[in-house]
Amino acid sequence: MAQTAPLIPRLVASSIAIANRAGEIIRNVMSKGDLGIVEKTGKNDLQTEADRSAQRCIITSLSKQFPSITIIGEEDEPSDSPVPSDWVVSEVDQDILRLECPDNLQQVSAEEVVVWVDPLDGTSEYTQGLLDHVTVLIGIAVGNRSVAGVIHQPYYNYQKENEPLGRTIWGIRGVGVGGFEPKAAPEGQRIITTTRSHSTPEVQATLDAMKPDNILRVGGAGHKVMLLIEGKAHAYVFASAGCKRWDTCAPEAILVALGGKLTDMHGKEYSYDKNTPFPNKGGVLATGKGENHEWYLEKVPEAIRKKLV
Ligand SMILES: *[C@@H]1O[C@H](CO)[C@@H](O)[C@H](O)[C@H]1NC(C)=O
Repeated sequence: MAQTAPLIPRLVASSIAIANRAGEIIRNVMSKGDLGIVEKTGKNDLQTEADRSAQRCIITSLSKQFPSITIIGEEDEPSDSPVPSDWVVSEVDQDILRLECPDNLQQVSAEEVVVWVDPLDGTSEYTQGLLDHVTVLIGIAVGNRSVAGVIHQPYYNYQKENEPLGRTIWGIRGVGVGGFEPKAAPEGQRIITTTRSHSTPEVQATLDAMKPDNILRVGGAGHKVMLLIEGKAHAYVFASAGCKRWDTCAPEAILVALGGKLTDMHGKEYSYDKNTPFPNKGGVLATGKGENHEWYLEKVPEAIRKKLV
């Protein structure tokens, strides 16, 4: 079975198992108590031992199974020390391999694939103990389009007893989603999710222009898109250049597989081509299925939109 399934489902099946292992590594670093925090740019951008180790697990495992794909990870920390053998994952999620794959994904070759990895999305929240904001993101692009994604939430249920810890959500465009119960956001309200730790006057002015009934300020693009697909928010609005392709590739694929949309503040989709610049310079606007994406775009103040190029 594993040999006969097309590349994209095989990549998703492996990414699910790999993201689960990365999540264990993240929990182990936390429970040992020494996060090994370093500041990456001096500008509210942290990296921990968990980011570094989870990325090594993901990249080593994926490149071993899929040597010809391009993999781009958030953390550029070349390390000469050998990767522990129990970080190299060879398991796959068998259920994914049995899915029907649409024609356009049947013939994808490894050379066309770019995998965007954020080993730990929501690092500041991780260091501050807001553990359910943390996700592992593995986004799969073909050419310039995000087509599939895996979001693992290592601390899902962490405040509940007797519930399994952690969960993994996946989506493939044209195939479907799994690992969670999709839900529509409540009618007659406007709930917007946005950044918790990277707000600016422009971010706030854009939110104000949309007159939300409620604003959910949470960490991580993965966590924000989860709020959309589980019906807790109608839109994710971030009028700032502060996030990167590895933050949006996986969440976008899952959201779009469900009928939602993710663009910049001009309504343009991001390219996930391997040569594309990393920053999402046009900001992020994501809306759940059935939401009027254009309505939100029109509300973005013109002066702010002009700066986001
Ligand atoms: C992807 O490439 C195609 C063909 O060159 C182009 O028409 C399309 O606009 C690109 N999409 C994105 C999101 O960059």
